[in-house]
Amino acid sequence: MKFETLKIILLRIFNSYIRRDFIKIILALILSIGVAGGTAAIAWLLDPAVKKIFIEQDNKMVFLIPIAIVLAFTTKGMSLYFARTILIKLANKVVRSIQLELSECILKSDIHTIESKHSGKYISHYNYDISLISNLVGNGTLNLMKDTLTLVVLISLMFYQNWKLACFALIMMPLAALVAKSLGRRLGKVTSQSAAVMGNLVSFLSDMIKGSRMTKIYQQEKFELERSEKIMTEYMEKQNKIGYVMVSATPVMEIMTGIIIAGFIYYTGLMVATGEIEINNFFSFLTAMMLAYQPIRSLATINMLFYQGAAGAERVFKVLDTEANIKENNSSNDIKINKGKVEFKGVSFAYPNTSDKAVKNINIEIEGGSTAALVGHSGAGKSTIINLIPRFYDPKNGKVFIDEQNIAEVKLFSLRKNISLVSQDTILFDDTIKANIAYANLNASDEDIKKACKFAAATEFIEKLPKSYDTLIGENGIRLSGGQKQRISIARAILKDSPIILLDEATSSLDSDSEEKVQNAVINLTKNKTTLVIAHRLSTIIRADKIFVVNQGEIIETGTHTELLKNSKVYKNLYSKQLSSN
Ligand SMILES: Nc1ncnc2c1ncn2[C@@H]1O[C@H](COP(=O)(O)OP(=O)(O)O)[C@@H](O)[C@H]1O
Ligand SMILES: [Mg+2]
Repeated sequence: MKFETLKIILLRIFNSYIRRDFIKIILALILSIGVAGGTAAIAWLLDPAVKKIFIEQDNKMVFLIPIAIVLAFTTKGMSLYFARTILIKLANKVVRSIQLELSECILKSDIHTIESKHSGKYISHYNYDISLISNLVGNGTLNLMKDTLTLVVLISLMFYQNWKLACFALIMMPLAALVAKSLGRRLGKVTSQSAAVMGNLVSFLSDMIKGSRMTKIYQQEKFELERSEKIMTEYMEKQNKIGYVMVSATPVMEIMTGIIIAGFIYYTGLMVATGEIEINNFFSFLTAMMLAYQPIRSLATINMLFYQGAAGAERVFKVLDTEANIKENNSSNDIKINKGKVEFKGVSFAYPNTSDKAVKNINIEIEGGSTAALVGHSGAGKSTIINLIPRFYDPKNGKVFIDEQNIAEVKLFSLRKNISLVSQDTILFDDTIKANIAYANLNASDEDIKKACKFAAATEFIEKLPKSYDTLIGENGIRLSGGQKQRISIARAILKDSPIILLDEATSSLDSDSEEKVQNAVINLTKNKTTLVIAHRLSTIIRADKIFVVNQGEIIETGTHTELLKNSKVYKNLYSKQLSSN
């Protein structure tokens, strides 16, 4: 990372998260003065201690000086304690703010942005990167303040005791700064590499744990373990590198300290011989120099903290700065639903980073309150068409209208409020059945939820569960069968009670028995509502007012079941091979 970038990032952290709590930094600064003062007092007190107690043997000072030493240590200890607590709290507050911003950003992001990165990578922003920023705000600022101040007062004391010796000791300082500068840069680089590996590790682990059934049946435990080993070794190596860079300052610093002390002793030897320095000044000076060692070392490596924190912040800011392609437009109006007529005019769409269009020149019209079905082979583009209606994606060409309003020009919130979607992969939260259904309407009463379940033919199995509606269903409903999960998600859609309903193979996991029950639920759900359904079952399709046959991204035929059976080869083919068989 370049120094310029570091500056920009640090400024942004300061302006966005710290400026409003600047008073806390001032407080910590004042307390840092206490730390520095306490430390210097300890060193200074050795001067009168040696002179008054050992040389002059003053009776009063024998008591007073030890008391003063206790006081100095207390001041240092208490100041440090309060400064640390203030900054730990500030750092945690900053962490919370950034985590919240991340959540807000991800929640508002468009589907493509979210899905183009593994969830594990996002999670590692929340923990790994954030911990680096926290370290910067908490330890970085405190060390910077207290160590700089301590160093300044200790050096002043050294000058006070003997300026010639002090000049000698100072010669070595610029050297230390030089070492530190190059270390900081290298550290920023390896930290970024380590963060990438951490992201991979979290992604891998989440896949490994989710895929445990697949691992067992294909007996790939060994393979998974080897993959674990590889990625963990990589992580270890990166951490080793960081550790290496971190401590590589130590020998340099130690050797330099050794050289300074050796030179110092030689030089004082000369000075004592000529009577230029007294023994009490010497002790005080030596103590100050010893005490200066810790802040020098800390300051020499402090830029590493800053570079690491900035590298973490850079990755987080990159996520925060990604503009959503599909976002709320506050200046537009709410959509006004009359009958709920859905229309596609010349719509084409290609998924980002793909060359072929998933759907081409789609022109369809679904009358308000009617049911239309999309049929076609898998991969034909049916789900793609459905996903354009709630604007999960925007068409590349053409427009989608609902009741003559271009959906790209109305408030996104109002658009989605009017749409229910039940898709083939049900998405459930690790919560109770009730909470999962109430997700559609957080204010729904227990009565409403039960009614929705009844319509979705879910009551029977729910009431057999140990805690009925309060049963916890596990991660993505792991404790339920596929059909049960689908009925829960249909109940959720029923509860939403929206005028437009999208069913993307919503009943594909149901056996014919529950299918029959759910069929009634679907009829209940879709009564007088505009429904676009992708179905594999003949019963659903026959009921549709209009059927669109989708083939390789295009609508090739439109009509009712009987019309299509008569006129469409593709439909006839689909019917005989697929639809009639189940
Ligand atoms: N997120 C995606 N990114 C890239 N290509 C996709 C994505 N989703 C689907 N596709 C591609 O778009 C085409 C249509 O897919 P889809 O609409 O899901 O088909 P259907 O629902 O009819 O089975 C397929 O060729 C599929 O590979
Ligand atoms: Mg599909």
